[in-house]
Amino acid sequence: MPDELPHPLLQEDEEQSLCFRGPWAWLVLILICCIGIGLIMWLFRKCVQGPYYRKKTRIDGKVVIVTGCNTGIGKETALELARRGGRIYMACRDAARCEAARLEIIERTQNQNVFNRTLDLASLSSVRQFSERFLAEEQRLDILINNAGIMATPHKLTVDGFEQQFGVNHLGHFLLTNLLLERLKSSAPSRIVVVSSAAYICGRINKDDLNSEKHYSKFLGAYCQSKLANILFTRKLAELLKNSGVTVNCVHPGIVRTELGRYSIATHWFNAIWLRVFGCFVKTPKAGAQTSLRVALDPALEKCSGEFYADSMRFPLLSKAKDKEMADWLWQESEKLVGLQRENAVQTIVVNQ
Ligand SMILES: *[C@@H]1O[C@H](CO)[C@@H](O)[C@H](O)[C@H]1NC(C)=O
Repeated sequence: MPDELPHPLLQEDEEQSLCFRGPWAWLVLILICCIGIGLIMWLFRKCVQGPYYRKKTRIDGKVVIVTGCNTGIGKETALELARRGGRIYMACRDAARCEAARLEIIERTQNQNVFNRTLDLASLSSVRQFSERFLAEEQRLDILINNAGIMATPHKLTVDGFEQQFGVNHLGHFLLTNLLLERLKSSAPSRIVVVSSAAYICGRINKDDLNSEKHYSKFLGAYCQSKLANILFTRKLAELLKNSGVTVNCVHPGIVRTELGRYSIATHWFNAIWLRVFGCFVKTPKAGAQTSLRVALDPALEKCSGEFYADSMRFPLLSKAKDKEMADWLWQESEKLVGLQRENAVQTIVVNQ
């Protein structure tokens, strides 16, 4: 009996050192779980944030306009383009916030060529004023980024009496782009980027009630219609710009944590909780800017026009977004609404004389 006593003890000792029994086993298990969860979350986050534009493309001296860029995706887009050497015109509605963002961008990029300009897309005369001043100031325009947008706002009319979301997201940019088009052409190769949204999928161009006068639905109606309009505009413009050296593409930036949703959620505390919970399912503004940046910068996309990009990749469009007849109709209608047709007619007469 006494002989056998040390034996099991020894065995236990050996086992303990080999297999991490007891508290050690738990610790190791917890550690492995933590690393595993961390890895999964990291990968998930990577997927949600999407690919970054990492090419070293420089745009020294090139002239850029970004609309709606005092915050969110627009600000990140302007910042990155400033970092790469562009002359950046920040076109914002709120002059004070524009200036604050401008100073921050200058400080972070050490690029002094960043300028504040007032542009209220809800006012056609503001769009005209902005364009006139810009055309007088700069002899070229290399990149135009139609970034500004509003989402699911309460029913309200623009200065000119258009439903706000259609007016700002589509008509304001429609006029702006048209007024700057000759300058873009004479600066070719140049690019236009239109920030649209995958929400176009739910959109329908309401031919009978484009302005939501009979019925207003803030998201599925007016917002989605305006985003579909952005794409139809892009497609028609790409056709008009064929062989001009100016390309135009539209992007879905992703679901981004910006102030865009400021109207859509009712209360403050609900907003706070919502942001906590869904924070990891949405992109940061910086990640949200990447698709716009790739479409604006990537030399590989030099010839690409009339396409739709999301997560920096080209995506096929639903047939309603490729509807040529609808794109033609919307273009003509928009020309009438912003008063471009008259001018074009006048220009043609002048040219003919
Ligand atoms: C806009 O920028 C200029 C400098 O370029 C500055 O003097 C001016 O105060 C800025 N505007 C506003 C409203 O802050």
